[in-house]
Amino acid sequence: MYGRRLATIEEIIALVSPDSDEELSTLEAWADNHGIPVHAVEVGDDIDSVYAPEREYLGVTLGGDGTYLEGVRQFSPKQIPILGINAGTLAFLASISPCDLTDALDEALRGGATVDRRQQLHVAADRVNCTGINDVMIEHEPPEDPVDRKITRLQVFADGEFVGEYEGSGLAVSTPTGSTGVSLSAGGPVHYPMNNSSLQIVPLHTHQMGVRPLIVDADTTIKVVAEGPANLLVDGGRVQSRLEEDDVVTIGGADTSALVVNTSYDDDFFTSISEKLGWSVREDRHDRGDADRLVETEDDGEVVRQAKQVAEEAAKAAGEALRELHGQTESVEYKSDKSDIVTEADYKADNIITTVIENEFPDHGIRSEESDERVGSSEYTWLIDPLDGTGNFAHGNPNYSISIALVEDEEPVMGVVYAPETDEMFAAIDGEGATLDGLPISTTDRATLDECMLLSGYDPNGAFLSHCYQETRGVRSLGSAALNLCFLAAGSADALWEFDTYPWDVAAGVVIAREAGATLTTANGDRYDPIAAHEARNELVGSNGAVHETLLRHLDEKQDLQAPKQTSAD
Ligand code: IPD
Ligand code: CA
Ligand code: CA
Repeated sequence: MYGRRLATIEEIIALVSPDSDEELSTLEAWADNHGIPVHAVEVGDDIDSVYAPEREYLGVTLGGDGTYLEGVRQFSPKQIPILGINAGTLAFLASISPCDLTDALDEALRGGATVDRRQQLHVAADRVNCTGINDVMIEHEPPEDPVDRKITRLQVFADGEFVGEYEGSGLAVSTPTGSTGVSLSAGGPVHYPMNNSSLQIVPLHTHQMGVRPLIVDADTTIKVVAEGPANLLVDGGRVQSRLEEDDVVTIGGADTSALVVNTSYDDDFFTSISEKLGWSVREDRHDRGDADRLVETEDDGEVVRQAKQVAEEAAKAAGEALRELHGQTESVEYKSDKSDIVTEADYKADNIITTVIENEFPDHGIRSEESDERVGSSEYTWLIDPLDGTGNFAHGNPNYSISIALVEDEEPVMGVVYAPETDEMFAAIDGEGATLDGLPISTTDRATLDECMLLSGYDPNGAFLSHCYQETRGVRSLGSAALNLCFLAAGSADALWEFDTYPWDVAAGVVIAREAGATLTTANGDRYDPIAAHEARNELVGSNGAVHETLLRHLDEKQDLQAPKQTSAD
């Protein structure tokens, strides 16, 4: 959910067309109010002079589709999301009207906009090496003498296989964003362009009745060989060249996608299509709206359900940032000892999650491992570990997670744990069961330890491992307490022991594991309460229930397990 990341935008680069002074003044006044620097760059100039790689940018284009396409060319290689304001006369890509500029920006900054990844294409030919978001046209060159032949012959290959010889005015290869016009004129389908990675080969004014538009995966390598002179135009002529006989054009999906910001001030795709094409399928129907839209409500149950949705979106947004930084974190700070570390990624994820939650629930308290506590005025407090398993993360190991819990009057009532590398979302609401990617999960029913797989957290003197390894099928130490609880919940482990976790490590996982049927206690067998100990670390024993008493007995018998560390309350 990239849109949520826009809540942490630090600077704006505005690509400005010559007639957009008024829109630029409005943008600058809005940004000034929000303390966000704006760098205005005139169309034709390069954004490199104002760009710093470590900053989070929003790219805004002020102009028509030409300015927007220039924005795509400059912002996309840097993966800067693009918001297009239509200050021109007629525009399809830049679709926000200037009068909605500040409202659209407010929505984006609140994290309420969405960001679509749009497939681009890459075109390589003699003197051409570029990307485009719309299409590449290979068209006949008008003959000097009208009596001469006007058709173009083009041989087309897909991944080396000969597709055929196209005769006519030429052909277009288009992305899902650029396909609508040419596709319809050739009797092809409408493409829904959001997160759609495909390419379409469309014959132009073909002389062969049987030739139809062809859709291929964006990984397909398309080769077009010209049998005579032809013109090549990318994105309506932003790049153009003349092809000679036997020239080869290689076209495929580009590696980088364009990040397109959509706000509620843009036309919805299907609304705009149905209006432009006069579809009858929507007539006399109400606007069904966005099925996922948050419902404003005071009802407690609804607050928790809303909280779960926001937590999942915040976790996905932060997870995307973590995936980008995974394996390339250089700066590690030490907290209490050499294993207790924090990285720039912890702070980045923290910033995204806490900003999103603060925007959506301004009266809720927020306690995150990596930032100062925010005291709220309501009965709800969020408990967050923005990166659980930092040690794994910093070493390029994929076992790390994001843990977000909602606590109501000292009781965790909702938990979300997201594993960015496997894109797995564990979630639960108190009393409503636990899920993995929306499907119910439950603990195992193995009843004897010798058939059980155990997980352990920090094991100070290795006693848990050495003792339990003999008694069970195995003991694994995976490095994220939040994920350990989810693995217990989903049945890939039967029991676990955590020696000294903080409340934010386990609050979300506790709701998920309990809702999946797990038994969670202290080493004494008392019900585990992740909140009661507050700042203190504490010990947690979890199981599928069936082996719980046996496990507790083993822990008790095994006196050489190191005693828990002294807590601040001792
Ligand atoms: C740690 C991990 C680890 C557990 C430690 C936690 P962090 O959290 O969950 O598995 O054994 O007790 O502190 O520092 O990576 O967020
Ligand atoms: Ca942690
Ligand atoms: Ca952490």
